Amino acid sequence: MSAHLPTIDSFSIGRCPRLSFGVGARNGLAALLRDAGVSRAGIITGARSLRVSPAWRQLQAQLRDAGLEWVDFALDGEPGPAFVDQVAAELRRIEAQAVIAIGGGSSIDAGKAAAAAFHLHGPVADYLEGVGTRVPDGRSLPLYALPTTGGTGTEATRNAVLSEIGERGFKKSLRHENYAPVAAIVDPELAVGCPASVTAASGMDAITQLIESYVSTTAAPFTDALAESGLLWAGRCIERAVHDGSDIEARAGMAYAAYLSGICLANAGLGIVHGAASPAGAALTIPHGVFCGTLLGASVRFTLERLDPHNAAHAVARRKYARIGVLLSGRDRGADDDNAAALVGELARLTDAIGIPRLGCYGFGVETARAVAFATSGKSHPVELDAAAVEAMLLSRL
Ligand SMILES: [Fe+2]
Repeated sequence: MSAHLPTIDSFSIGRCPRLSFGVGARNGLAALLRDAGVSRAGIITGARSLRVSPAWRQLQAQLRDAGLEWVDFALDGEPGPAFVDQVAAELRRIEAQAVIAIGGGSSIDAGKAAAAAFHLHGPVADYLEGVGTRVPDGRSLPLYALPTTGGTGTEATRNAVLSEIGERGFKKSLRHENYAPVAAIVDPELAVGCPASVTAASGMDAITQLIESYVSTTAAPFTDALAESGLLWAGRCIERAVHDGSDIEARAGMAYAAYLSGICLANAGLGIVHGAASPAGAALTIPHGVFCGTLLGASVRFTLERLDPHNAAHAVARRKYARIGVLLSGRDRGADDDNAAALVGELARLTDAIGIPRLGCYGFGVETARAVAFATSGKSHPVELDAAAVEAMLLSRL
């Protein structure tokens, strides 16, 4: 064995859903439900694009033909505890045997939380991390997740984010190892109607999740391999998917990158951008992907400036940022420093090219930036960024 080969530290990977990936994968849902003996279910979708699509009409016909009875719910915006409690009550009333969530991260999180809340005693807020004091026991209705935005990767994770906005607002997780969906059906055709602005924001969320889990202090070679593959495909496909929503190859690339980002974040953790996203999302109505996308470039720049060349862990992070520069831009400039610098430029270019808005468009001001910076946790970020640095980072994107 080479003396230079690093050791692989211990790591564990949580339960992942059964995955069906590809154009037409959604046509397998009815058979999956039939094989599992499911005859009554709850279906949760977003409120807009899917509901007017031919895919939704076709899917309903297939489920009816398979003898499924269901109640369905349309979610507008991000899910809060009240919505989840209401859905769970309805699921109990019809004695549902499964939940099907079709949509972006919000719809799938709502479905995941409602499937769990079916078995919880009392309001779901009592079980949210940092909000309630009760711990979920992990029982849940089986969840079938069909993502439609190519972004959050929540179809691969075991937490559901619920939020309430305002002065006493929060954006917190309901989490248990068992809450991963039993099946993820990732059909790139379901994203064809997803608007360009949502495609851009969710795509940047996926890229942020891949980058943050890749440079995370708790990354492992297993998650690194997935993050590298996801970044390669996201770099090739994000602009194409934003500029031509019917480009099915680009939609497939983004759906794949998003799914991998979910596995990576669930097992390797996230960094400073997601650490700031929770308090930001609780303070103001700003799409999660916009917040992550607009801040990502600044966070990489601030981080690179603070990496100590004499610190071994920082040296690994610098090499990883250089590698991300190559994967995202598709071009190797040779030296690590050149590739890392190119990453900063590439993220600034990409953010503009796909039209990610700045924070000021959502009412973010100096005071909000200070409050969010103060409440930000660094999670598994490779270098410590104090509140002053986070504030400066946020101000740079007003
Ligand atoms: Fe995210």
